[in-house]
Amino acid sequence: MAHEIPTAELGPGVQLPTIGFGTWQITGSSAYESTRTALDVGYRHIDTATMYGNEDEIGRALRDSGVDRSDIFITTKLPPSQAGRERQTIEASLKALGVDHVDLWLIHWPPARGRSVPVWEAFLKAREAGLTRSVGVSNYDAALIDELTKETGETPAVNQVAWSPAQHDAQFLADMRDRRVVVEGYSSLKNTPLDDPRLVAIAEAHGVTVPQVVLRWQLHHDIVIIPKSTRRERMAENLSVLDFSLTAAELETVNAW
Ligand SMILES: NC(=O)c1ccc[n+]([C@@H]2O[C@H](COP(=O)([O-])OP(=O)(O)OC[C@H]3O[C@@H](n4cnc5c(N)ncnc54)[C@H](OP(=O)(O)O)[C@@H]3O)[C@@H](O)[C@H]2O)c1
Repeated sequence: MAHEIPTAELGPGVQLPTIGFGTWQITGSSAYESTRTALDVGYRHIDTATMYGNEDEIGRALRDSGVDRSDIFITTKLPPSQAGRERQTIEASLKALGVDHVDLWLIHWPPARGRSVPVWEAFLKAREAGLTRSVGVSNYDAALIDELTKETGETPAVNQVAWSPAQHDAQFLADMRDRRVVVEGYSSLKNTPLDDPRLVAIAEAHGVTVPQVVLRWQLHHDIVIIPKSTRRERMAENLSVLDFSLTAAELETVNAW
């Protein structure tokens, strides 16, 4: 069943589904099977990276799924070791994925000092060439983003960063909001003890699971979620987090976790 998933606008006509499917550490047949299952369960946003070594399998899963390419949002990422070889890197991603463009291309983490701006310039060229519909960064702080804006006049549309109750940083969110940068949060389940009594109490109050509380909490903060699972029932669980809302007091509890 395709769920109605809200989107965040990254630019004219570029709508990022606020719930995506993470694919780090899934390779080979597991990457193929998991992506097929995720699409079947209703995910329409897939997060991969050159580094993950699974673009071939994801590409095959996309094609075999029968879902229209235009209905799927694909993100991939350039490892900064490929600085200077941006065009070859995105062309290799497109070939592996079997598509003529991705929807979002991220600098996976900041390149060595002084290399960030040239990589960003190459990203803007790739977007102009139609190889990606939007461009962004990952693991950047506000100062590094400001450097890109100052040097090129273009601010990344997205910053993908680690996020979990223990890593909550209201100032960082405000900084990104001020710059109109959409935040995507990764590894939130991995970085949270899922048996924490405060989270269990909130989950019980809503008849949901702790992973659902953590994911819902991020969405309340306008943080895009990209949970990864190889299990169908967990994929469905992680996608079904819009049927309940946390109260202001519950949000505060998780913020202050
Ligand atoms: N930009 C970056 O530098 C960066 C870094 C890390 C990750 N990412 C992206 O973010 C995605 C998510 O992060 P992540 O994969 O590190 O961690 P995550 O999604 O927070 O957690 C994944 C782990 O949680 C388990 N899990 C998933 N759903 C669950 C549920 N409902 N109940 C209990 N356990 C559950 C999974 O096990 P099973 O598979 O067995 O269900 C897996 O062990 C990645 O896959 C990747 O796409 C980006």
